Amino acid sequence: MLTTRPRGTSDILPGEVEKWQYLEQVIRNLCREYGYREIRTPIFEHTELFERSVGEATDIVEKEMYTFKDRGNRSISLRPEGTAAVVRAYLENRLYAGPQPVKLYYLGPMFRYDRPQAGRYRQFHQFGVEALGSHDPALDAEVMAMAMDLYSRLGLKEIELHVNSLGCPQCRPVFRERLREFFRERDGVLCRHCRDRLERNPLRILDCKEEGCRGAAQGAPTVLGSLCSPCEDHFRAVLGYLEQLGVPYTVNPCLVRGLDYYNRTAFEVVARDVGAQSSIGGGGRYDGLVEACGGPDVPGIGFASGLERVLLAMERQGISVPSPPGLDVFLVAADEAAREQSLVLVQQLRKSGLAADRDYMGRSLKAQMKFAGKLGVGLVAICGAGELARGAVILRDMRTGIQEEVPLSKLVEEVKLRCTGRKESAPVNGNHAGA
Ligand code: HAM
Repeated sequence: MLTTRPRGTSDILPGEVEKWQYLEQVIRNLCREYGYREIRTPIFEHTELFERSVGEATDIVEKEMYTFKDRGNRSISLRPEGTAAVVRAYLENRLYAGPQPVKLYYLGPMFRYDRPQAGRYRQFHQFGVEALGSHDPALDAEVMAMAMDLYSRLGLKEIELHVNSLGCPQCRPVFRERLREFFRERDGVLCRHCRDRLERNPLRILDCKEEGCRGAAQGAPTVLGSLCSPCEDHFRAVLGYLEQLGVPYTVNPCLVRGLDYYNRTAFEVVARDVGAQSSIGGGGRYDGLVEACGGPDVPGIGFASGLERVLLAMERQGISVPSPPGLDVFLVAADEAAREQSLVLVQQLRKSGLAADRDYMGRSLKAQMKFAGKLGVGLVAICGAGELARGAVILRDMRTGIQEEVPLSKLVEEVKLRCTGRKESAPVNGNHAGA
């Protein structure tokens, strides 16, 4: 136990973490360009928030939350998703009182207790955006275009956008009742969960993966046939904007999403290469959510993407990412006297903006050189008593093997000169750093 991480979690080690940093950088640039600003909320909230927003009858709240009593006997849950907390923060900090829409993004860990498999984890990471305060269907289209823009910037191919409308509190009850009638006649072939869903949440039967339920859903009434005219107009406008933006999409009337807060637009982004967990992102409109959480009647739309799944899709498609530069120079001490001096020298190099390191394992000169090689450092500064007495060090280019004595007073300048041109990105391929 002591040396094993909990199931469904991962350690992101050097070698792998650079891919995360790259992905996060692409995301931050994207958000800046689309006018979203970062919000950081706690990773746990009062359980009630998720019950009210995500919905008590959803799998997430019923079966997947990490819920516990804290020492003050409050029911607390690790966040299973980001929307609820953003809405809570929007209310608590009265962001509705300022100019609208408020466009926010987040990046961070989420927690769901589900059966782990490739692409499905108990601690996973989401990038999400939430735009609060506008009913404009152009914003729905922009959010979807933004999601697709992210995947295309990352070089992902064969990514599909599936769109649906889930109606609103006026038209959805009619649809729900039609569905109930339809499935009641077929409840003999429904799975145990869907028989249970029939009364509580019949829409979910539409996206059940069980064969019997999929068969039963053939010919089921679609929500699109039950939309009230404002919802229909909204949906048409969203699709029209997507076309104007040149974002390809498929209308999928079976798309219902696993969270209760959605109305009108709902969408999912599917990657062919990720296997069973093919949804790399999903989102939609949640116009009644702010009010349901005790606030004013403010609409909202957003989406979230699972970073593990995005990275998995990138890996399966053979997409490599640029690696950040490593150390500029490694200081090798040829003897004991130089070892002490190198501590001061390495610090001077860092203060001048260079990335520098030295040995802390008492290695021999030869072993220090070998270690520098393993680190992949391009330049090594070798200092020995003789050189130091002359106020100099030897600079060795590890690629060419060419060595040159340089005065200590010029060390920073010389290292900087040699590093220019070396910092171009090279792809990260290996899984873990050898060091
Ligand atoms: P969601 O569809 O539950 O939506 O999750 C969004 C994405 O998170 C999924 O498409 C998937 O990529 C990733 N994901 C979900 N569960 C896991 C898991 N167990 N392991 C790995 N990745 C996972 C939401 O969470 C909504 N809050 C999205 C949203 C934002 N809607 C409006 N605004």
